[in-house]
Amino acid sequence: MRGKLRVFLCSRIPEEAERYLRSRCRLEIYRGEELIGRGRLLRAVRDADGLIPTVTERIDAGVMDAAPRLRVIANYGVGFNNVDVGAATARGLPVTNTPEVLTEATADLAFSLILAASRRLGEGERYVRAGRWRGWKPTQLLGRDVFGKTLGVLGMGRIGQAIARRARGFSMKVLYSDARRAPARLERELGVRYVSLGSLLKQADILTIHAPLIPETHHLIGAAALRRMKRTAVVVNAARGPIVDEGALAAALRAGRIAAAGVDVHEREPAVHPELLKLENVVLLPHLGSATLETRTAMGILAAKNCLAALAGRRPPCLVNPEVWRGRGRG
Ligand code: DGY
Repeated sequence: MRGKLRVFLCSRIPEEAERYLRSRCRLEIYRGEELIGRGRLLRAVRDADGLIPTVTERIDAGVMDAAPRLRVIANYGVGFNNVDVGAATARGLPVTNTPEVLTEATADLAFSLILAASRRLGEGERYVRAGRWRGWKPTQLLGRDVFGKTLGVLGMGRIGQAIARRARGFSMKVLYSDARRAPARLERELGVRYVSLGSLLKQADILTIHAPLIPETHHLIGAAALRRMKRTAVVVNAARGPIVDEGALAAALRAGRIAAAGVDVHEREPAVHPELLKLENVVLLPHLGSATLETRTAMGILAAKNCLAALAGRRPPCLVNPEVWRGRGRG
């Protein structure tokens, strides 16, 4: 296989992962500073056997049809809402993702946002840098405790569970809501309690979102949901931007209907909602959930393994549309 099969990688990834791929296939990498444009992507996939997009490239039927040799779409990311999996399945194309390797880094980042938004770290940093600090005062930049509060976790998948484990160290009461209730054993182990979404919104001091973006979760946290929350509540989103209606979030933050927010992911990345940019009580990050060298390297190697396995006719380890593999033998 070496030297024959072509893999197109839509963005640079950490060197070790690029090396891993380069030594096993004919690798072409888009090296631009800007995100790859549609035209460039369509040209690049023309003779690609394998495609490794990142979570920002929209891989739809048009891209698949422009790639007659394509045999696998190995997404660099755990979320794969950027890929039209239905269109891939209809074409018999395996789609893969990179679960598990980014769970802890993403949970760390989400917990950082919980702390940063609750304790007004962004405001404090801007205050110091602007040269406005004139000395310690008992009423300066008062945030709210995180320790001992009620944490509402929306989505108790791997990352939600990793958040619940961290919350234990902060003596938090952890409630969660999910389309599917977790097994009792896991609830006991994590010390979490399942509640309805309405109850989660009402009781949470901090709501942290760890659900996938699917039609059912689009704008799940909109004006109506935000109205049900405490005025002192903090909302954190490190999952996918469109789960939150950003316009409604900005309005709630501006009106003091909730206290603060931490936002790592955005509805129209890389655009940030202009109303959020005007607010002090929101911490804004550029989708950093998995952004550590170790994690982004591990994601690259896992994406590479998925891609190379499919190209070698073996079932990739993280197949998200297993129906395409039925009938292909045990490989
Ligand atoms: C993912 O993998 O889905 C993340 O959003 C990337 O950090």
